[in-house]
Amino acid sequence: KAALRNLAIDVLKENDQGDYTIPTKGLYPFQWNWDSCLTALGQAHFDEARAWQEIETLFAHQWPDGMVPHIVFHVYSDGYFPGPDVWDTKRPTATSGITQPAVAGFAVKRLFERAKDRALAEEKARLLLPKIDKWHDWFYRNRDPRGEGLVAILHPWEAGRDNSVDWDEAFERVPTDGITPYTRRDTQHADPAHRPTKAQYDRYLWLVEKFRSLGWDNTRLHDASPLQVIDPGFNAILLRACADLAALAETLGETAIAAANRARAEKGIAALDALWSDSHGLYLCKDRTTGRLIDSASLGGMLPALADIPASRAAAIARTIERWSAKVKFIVPSQDPDDPRFEAKRYWRGPVWLVTNYMIADGLAANGESAVAEQIRGSSLDLITQSGFAEYYDPITAEPCGGGRFTWTAAMVLEFLA
Ligand code: DGY
Repeated sequence: KAALRNLAIDVLKENDQGDYTIPTKGLYPFQWNWDSCLTALGQAHFDEARAWQEIETLFAHQWPDGMVPHIVFHVYSDGYFPGPDVWDTKRPTATSGITQPAVAGFAVKRLFERAKDRALAEEKARLLLPKIDKWHDWFYRNRDPRGEGLVAILHPWEAGRDNSVDWDEAFERVPTDGITPYTRRDTQHADPAHRPTKAQYDRYLWLVEKFRSLGWDNTRLHDASPLQVIDPGFNAILLRACADLAALAETLGETAIAAANRARAEKGIAALDALWSDSHGLYLCKDRTTGRLIDSASLGGMLPALADIPASRAAAIARTIERWSAKVKFIVPSQDPDDPRFEAKRYWRGPVWLVTNYMIADGLAANGESAVAEQIRGSSLDLITQSGFAEYYDPITAEPCGGGRFTWTAAMVLEFLA
């Protein structure tokens, strides 16, 4: 256990750039939003000040409208595509123009509660509180323009689960004509068979060019996007973050922030229930353009375990994981293994990821499903022991996939060992 812990700390230190951490060398040479917030949880186990710094650095690049971008391009590197010139967001430090899952509120509350240095924790939490609140407000103003209580993602990279089956149907509406010819860099760093396809990349790029043509004006992007998906996973993370921020704000005597976030969480939790699928035993995405649920059983539909859902729903999710675990060796696969679209090695279409394992296990444990939570933790540590700190893993063979020496995987190991 001590040896594994030290190996994880080595990975975090190797990828540390001083005041932010890259996900992995080569493939991801900048700061990513949700990677950083989850990484901070791992860093706190050996350096609390450094953990706070990780999140502070990210929020130093928050946009004036409140958005926190999904990539901050701190230093130039031509090893990644699409780089700053493609995004062309015209920020003082180059950033991308879309966002990512709002784990910051969740991470900051956890850091605050566990902090040994109480004075530092209070100082940093007070500093971050209004910024995270502004980001939450941004989400509901720009991504829920009709006040339904749930936000839409406009690009698969926002969900973080880039090539999930969840987006296939809506992606058919995204054209590919007219995009600037480009050379992918990801497939030079990782096995192309583990990565999104060219057809998907063309659509990722079409959306970026579309939003860029609108000057990255977030008041216009939502209605102009051919892709508007209400993802239960993305919403659940945001709702948990709202609830956590409300609790933290209460502790710090910030009553207005507490009330605003409490209201967002309550409204969203009520709206989320319309996405529940009895036949799949999890939540489904809803396509806002068509108004229909998307028939794809993915781990995005299990992430609501993290939010304040009814206990019966959390129990049903636990039973679904038990059913899936009979079909693979390691859990939680990112897609139902019986789904004909399941691919064991292709990024988010089947592989196991430690960050989603962590969030699902955390939610299930809090809902009294400790046996399944423990099974997820055991599976996660078995994968590391067999295959090292990879980006993600084949749930059948444990083969390490994607990038190696991966920061958030190492951070989650420190959490699972704690
Ligand atoms: C990528 O480039 O693969 C990233 O997931 C986008 O954020």
